Amino acid sequence: MLKGKKILIGITGSIAAYKIPFLVRLLKKAGAEVQIILTPAARDFVTPLTLSTLSERPVLTEFFNKDDGSWHSHVNLGLWADLFLVAPLSANTMAKMATGIADNLLLTTVLSARCPVLFAPAMDLDMYRHPATVENISKLKQFGYRLIEPVEGELASGLKGMGRLEEPEKIFEIINEMLVPDSVFQNKKVLVTAGPTYEPIDPVRFIGNFSSGKMGVEIAHAFAAAGAEVTLILGPSEIIVDDPAIETIRVTTAEEMYNQCMENFPESEITVMAAAVADYTPAKTVAEKIKKSGSIKKIDLKPTKDILATMGSQKKAGQILVGFALETDNEKNNAQKKLKNKNLDLIVLNSMKDEGAGFGHTTNKVTMMTAKGTEKVFPLKSKQEVAQDILAEIESLM
Ligand code: CTP
Repeated sequence: MLKGKKILIGITGSIAAYKIPFLVRLLKKAGAEVQIILTPAARDFVTPLTLSTLSERPVLTEFFNKDDGSWHSHVNLGLWADLFLVAPLSANTMAKMATGIADNLLLTTVLSARCPVLFAPAMDLDMYRHPATVENISKLKQFGYRLIEPVEGELASGLKGMGRLEEPEKIFEIINEMLVPDSVFQNKKVLVTAGPTYEPIDPVRFIGNFSSGKMGVEIAHAFAAAGAEVTLILGPSEIIVDDPAIETIRVTTAEEMYNQCMENFPESEITVMAAAVADYTPAKTVAEKIKKSGSIKKIDLKPTKDILATMGSQKKAGQILVGFALETDNEKNNAQKKLKNKNLDLIVLNSMKDEGAGFGHTTNKVTMMTAKGTEKVFPLKSKQEVAQDILAEIESLM
């Protein structure tokens, strides 16, 4: 969900710093890049080793690296970030931020940041309600910084009241809302299939097809970037899907793909069947390698189950079902038939006759037809752009 988003976290000297490693884990799991800056006082509360391990980046405190003399540019850090969170924010650093004091790397980076700045104070309740703090918070808000208010509860001092740092899960939610643009696909459950299937003849041979899985994987990425909860059922493709926002289930045969689809389809709000599923599989798989000397003349085949047609027959109101049609002739008629017979809402047609379309290419040329009777012809585009077009077409159906 936060894939590729760059987040700076400034940690100051407060006991609540112990909560930040949990937040870093959540952000990293969601695909964000995290850079941590500690004030010198923060190092007494949380170890750089823990934070650098979790963030997979060196933790910064000083303007210079004392070992090699290299400069940690606060300007570059400030420009790099999509969002800067200062949490926990102590009364001391807050006062410095409110007056523009710049005596450590965290403070200079705050001054250089062009991205949204969030601050999450944590302190004792009397410090928090002191007029100096109240005034400083108001100043930071005037700068356009967004306050994550502390919550009520037991404080490290033993007192009870306002001053506890907001929980990591809540801070994560706020960051997510700010960085992931509003989308109709936000939190929607989406099922995508991609790739070929391999139907084993014997332990070393199979019947397969030339599908690379690129189109379906791009569709899965596009949905994930739009905030959907994506399950990708991927046949034997060479593509490695490392997007933490996509749950990838690897399968090999049409039967395995069928079983996984049947398990995931009932919960799915949008399903896109981009996989090139084998229509036939060997009637029996031979346990030992078939020898050249065995004079094999033919392989008996039996049909596989049509996954898309099965899903179409089980489709409930509100579920959107999208299929693909790969044709070599009579393209539009064949695609229309599949749209109707498989009870689809949308079919994406690609013709093998179009240069740069279909299997293996990084580009595709599609025509989209809906059950409502619309038809749109698209020019040759990258598969990434085609994925965006498919999402836009699905959005128009919602
Ligand atoms: N499909 C499926 N299960 C199968 C075969 C195909 O779910 N056993 C799906 C594909 O993922 C695609 C759609 O059905 O979304 C159309 O696939 P295509 O190969 O174009 O058509 P078929 O229905 O297999 O018919 P034909 O091969 O005769 O064109």
